[in-house]
Amino acid sequence: MKVFVAGATGRVASELIKDLIEAGHEVIAGARNPERISLPEGAEAEQLRTVHLDLHDSKEKLSQTLQDAQVMYFVAGSRGKDLLQTDAFGAVKLMQAAEEAGAPRFVMLSSLYSLDPSKWDDERMKPLLNYTIAKFFADNYLITNTTLDYTILQASNLTEEAGTGEIAIGEESGATNAIPDVAATLAKILDHPNTLHKVIRMGSGPLPIDAALAHA
Ligand SMILES: NC(=O)c1ccc[n+]([C@@H]2O[C@H](COP(=O)([O-])OP(=O)(O)OC[C@H]3O[C@@H](n4cnc5c(N)ncnc54)[C@H](OP(=O)(O)O)[C@@H]3O)[C@@H](O)[C@H]2O)c1
Repeated sequence: MKVFVAGATGRVASELIKDLIEAGHEVIAGARNPERISLPEGAEAEQLRTVHLDLHDSKEKLSQTLQDAQVMYFVAGSRGKDLLQTDAFGAVKLMQAAEEAGAPRFVMLSSLYSLDPSKWDDERMKPLLNYTIAKFFADNYLITNTTLDYTILQASNLTEEAGTGEIAIGEESGATNAIPDVAATLAKILDHPNTLHKVIRMGSGPLPIDAALAHA
């Protein structure tokens, strides 16, 4: 499939692009600095197109950027610096642009308890409150205000450890995720139609990613 990745210079995105290409997809990688995106080792030039994407742009401009993509991945984020315009409204505009472009599959990388304010008083959540609120509005918009075939992946703390290829899904999942495991899970979501219209919490754990997703 033709897959658009928003936020393509990020840590998760770089791994995701590799995984999507390895799985045989064609990637359109959108970033503010597309010159920083490099072709993964072993990939053919025609498997990766890079385009300029700034989530501050209008919905109309974003629609043109999406080109002929069939699937959207939102893996952008402002690291707390621009939550309203990037993490919240930037995501919403990309959803609206995807709907206009007739690209119904939308995979959102989100965060722990993004949809559960009752958990936000927890000491570990407090430093992330504004970020989590931004994700709350973006995730809710995706679920209730669009007709997109979404999957929302709620990852725990990202770490730069090596991937294990194993994860857990649901309340029992571990409190961290190696970035390559998050990227691999995002990529494999496309192989599991049972993930449509689901909010999936993930963390470290003992199950091979495909096996975990099969029961998501
Ligand atoms: N950190 C965690 O523990 C954690 C846990 C769960 C979920 N998450 C989610 O995972 C996402 C990805 O994580 P990561 O570590 O890969 O993040 P990252 O390395 O900071 O990458 C974020 C990407 O978003 C891009 N971006 C920022 N503002 C933009 C804008 N206005 N328009 C277009 N692109 C923009 C950045 O581009 P530039 O290079 O141009 O700045 C960068 O490529 C985070 O944003 C967060 O929402 C994080």
